[in-house]
Amino acid sequence: MARKVIIDCDPGIDDAVALTLALFDPRLEVVAVTAVAGNVSAEQATRNVQTIVEQLDPPRYPRLGSATEPDSAPYIDRRHLNGEDGLAGAGLAVSQLARQHPSEKLICDEVRAAPGEVTLVCLGPLTNVARALTRDPELLSLLGRIVIMGGSVSGVGNVTPCAEFNIYFDPPSARTIFRSPTTKTLVPLDVTDQVVLSLELLNQLPDETSRAGRLLRAIVPHLFRTHRHELGQESIRLSDTVAIAAMLHPELFHTTELSGDVETSGELTLGATIFDRRPNSPQRADIEVTTELDVPAVTDCIVRGLADAGRQTAI
Ligand code: RIB
Ligand code: CA
Repeated sequence: MARKVIIDCDPGIDDAVALTLALFDPRLEVVAVTAVAGNVSAEQATRNVQTIVEQLDPPRYPRLGSATEPDSAPYIDRRHLNGEDGLAGAGLAVSQLARQHPSEKLICDEVRAAPGEVTLVCLGPLTNVARALTRDPELLSLLGRIVIMGGSVSGVGNVTPCAEFNIYFDPPSARTIFRSPTTKTLVPLDVTDQVVLSLELLNQLPDETSRAGRLLRAIVPHLFRTHRHELGQESIRLSDTVAIAAMLHPELFHTTELSGDVETSGELTLGATIFDRRPNSPQRADIEVTTELDVPAVTDCIVRGLADAGRQTAI
């Protein structure tokens, strides 16, 4: 029986690759893809979600949710890595934007429709999840599981010296979820940054005789270019794709239960994720933090999963 999932994301090329992996894996039934502001604006993220899903045209079409800006968005995004439109400026065709429910409403509706069965996978800031929780306080108790790509256990950030982007973009929402009385699975930078993809990936992507290949080859090369120009790196990391791999292949990952919280006011530490690793911590350790992974095996699963998406979308 395929596992029902909602993917909340802020496309972003990384998110697009993650969606390609998820939408064609038979173990998953992606019932909804909800847009959230982060890498790009809310409006652009909404457009990009529809663009990606239309370009891939998966066998089971998910419902789509529209993003709205967080209450206090920082003046930051990740267009310098993903392109002005968040999808490499590839000019991908998209039909007239369908009228969509707000992401937080769609999350509540789909969770209520299948209590205990839905896994919510968060690949962007946690704005929608916090809003959904406000809208339906029983939400997290009705969720099967929540998986979050975000944070840093070591304290090394990617957007400031100590904060990871998804958390930094909306710290109050992240704190709400970290403090919520439900078990969360966290896939932090410490783990996702270990999967380093070289230019060899461009030879391994499905070719352009498939919808997945056309999409991936239109956007992934841009990420290599910007990583070289902006970061001086000859390789890329696909944090969201590793988070999907963690869901699909849990046997390749190791988790540790920790208690964690989010800094929401520090001048230097805003958005930092703080974990209590004291031996006799009084805090409830309700975050399953992914700490280790089999890097070669995870990399192989990603490449094989994308190739499979290519086979399923042959033109
Ligand atoms: O820090 C990495 C995260 O920030 C990824 O989800 C990427 O897409 C951006 O949202
Ligand atoms: Ca993302």
